[in-house]
Amino acid sequence: MTDKFVAAIDQGTTSSRCIIFNQDGAIVAVDQREHRQIFPKPGWVEHDATEIWSKVQAVVAGATAKAGLRTDQISALGITNQRETTVLWDRATGKPVHNAIVWQDTRTAALCNQLGGSDGQDRFREQTGLPLASYFSGPKAAWLLDNVPGLRTRAENGEIAFGTIDSWLIWNLTGGTDGGHHVTDVTNAGRTMLMNLETLQWDSSILSAMNVPEAVLPEIKSSSEVYGTAVGQLAGVPVASALGDQQAAVFGQACYDVGTAKNTYGTGSFLLLNTGNRPVQSKSGLLTTMGYKIGSEAPVYCLEGAIAITGALVQWFRDQLGIIRTADEIEPLAESVEDNGGAYIVPAFSGLFAPYWRSDARGVITGLTRYVTKAHLARAVLEATSWQTREVVDAMYQDSGVHITTLKVDGGMTKNNLLMQHQADVLDVPVIRPKVSETTCLGAAYAAGLATGVWNDLDELKAHWAKDVEWTPGMTAEARDREYHNWRKAVEKSFGWEE
Ligand code: G3P
Repeated sequence: MTDKFVAAIDQGTTSSRCIIFNQDGAIVAVDQREHRQIFPKPGWVEHDATEIWSKVQAVVAGATAKAGLRTDQISALGITNQRETTVLWDRATGKPVHNAIVWQDTRTAALCNQLGGSDGQDRFREQTGLPLASYFSGPKAAWLLDNVPGLRTRAENGEIAFGTIDSWLIWNLTGGTDGGHHVTDVTNAGRTMLMNLETLQWDSSILSAMNVPEAVLPEIKSSSEVYGTAVGQLAGVPVASALGDQQAAVFGQACYDVGTAKNTYGTGSFLLLNTGNRPVQSKSGLLTTMGYKIGSEAPVYCLEGAIAITGALVQWFRDQLGIIRTADEIEPLAESVEDNGGAYIVPAFSGLFAPYWRSDARGVITGLTRYVTKAHLARAVLEATSWQTREVVDAMYQDSGVHITTLKVDGGMTKNNLLMQHQADVLDVPVIRPKVSETTCLGAAYAAGLATGVWNDLDELKAHWAKDVEWTPGMTAEARDREYHNWRKAVEKSFGWEE
C-alpha cells in the first residue's frame, strides 16, 4: 500500500500549528508559531487576523518541509480552530475591518444582558443550546457592526463577510478575493448563537433580534466534505474538514459512542460528552453543542462544560506575576510542598463560564495566611484546573445521568503529572491520555481523510486509539469532600464584582 498523508491546521488561541499525519494516524511532522495577544482594555482580547493567516501559511510551509513531502503527496487538508473568535472582512480587499474579537473578550456582556431582556440569559437557549454570554460570536459581530463607522451599511450591501477562524482560513486557502469559498461547518456555526440546532441553518428570528444581516454570513456545511481546493502553497489539495478545536478533539479521541467523553486542557478546558443524534438541553449550566457531522450522515451532539481559564492561569502566573520563568517550572515548584497550604485561586478572568455563566465574577485568591508560599500558590494554580473540571463533571451527571467512569484527556497540560494525578483524585475516576495526544489536529485530519477516501469509516479510526498513561485516583473521600467544600466557598467569593 502506498502511504497517504493528511495535513491538519490547528489555529488556536495562542498559536497556530500544522501537523502532517500518515495513514496510521501517526505524526510525521509538526510546525508551530505563536501570534500576538492584544489587550486594549481590561476584559478585551483581540487578535490580528492577518497575522494569524501569515502564521498559518508559515506553519504549513514548515510542516511540509520537515515532512519532506511534495504537495501532490498530501491527500487532504483539515482545519480546526479556536472557536467563537470573530472576524469581519472586506470581500473586495480581503482585509479585516477590525482586529478579531477573541472568545475570551467580555466587551459584549452589557449587550448580552440587554438582548436577554425580560427572558434573561436563556432567551435563545432552546434554539441554540447556549446561554447569552459574551463568549459567543453573534453578539461580537453585532458589536463590530455597531462600533466600526459605516460598517453596518456596507454589511447590508453585501460588501462584508463574517467568519469564525475556520471561515477566514478556508476563504483565504481557497483563493481569497479570487474566488475563495465562504463557508463554515456546523460545529463552528453552532457557537455563533445564530444557528438553529435542529435545522442546522441560520435562525432568522435570532438574526433579527441581534441585528446581524444574513448577507454577511457563510454557508453552513458538514464537518467532513470537500469545501474547495487550495490555491497557493498547497495548490490542488482538497480542503476537506472543519471542526471547532474541542469538537475536533472529540473526533480525534474516538468519542464516537454515546456516553464517551474527553477533556482538553489548553488555554481553557473543555469537557465534551457525546449524547448521540439528538440535542440534550442542559439545566445545569452546560452547553448543548454540535459534536460533528460527517457529510450527509446524521449530526452528533454533545454536552459541553466550557472552562475559560486553565492553562491561561499558568501563563498569568508566569507572565503577569513572574513567579516562574517557564510554564514547565510550575510542576517542580508545586511538588516542593505537600499541599496548597489552604490557598485556592479562582481564575474568573473572563467572568466564570460553566457551570455558572457569571459575567460579574472576577478572579480571587482565598485562604491566605503568612504560611502560604509561592509553592502553595503554584499548587493552587494547578488545582484550579482540576476543581473547575470536577464542577463540570458533576453538572454532566445532573444533566445526562451519565457517570463518567474514565476521563480521556489531551492538550498541553496533560504532561503535568501532578495536575493529572490531582484530576483523578478529585474526580475519583481514572484519567487516561492516548499515545497521540495531539487529538485536535488528529480529529481534523481524520474528518478530512474520511471525506477523501484516506480512511473508510469510524471503526478504522477507532482502531488507531491507544492508551499511553493512566492516572488512578488515590485521595480519601474525606479529604476530597473537605477540599471541594473549600473550593466552592472560594468560587462564591468571586461573584458580584462591579466593572
Ligand atoms: O471555545 C474556545 C476554544 O475553542 C479555545 O480553545 O485550545 O485555543 O484554548 P484553545
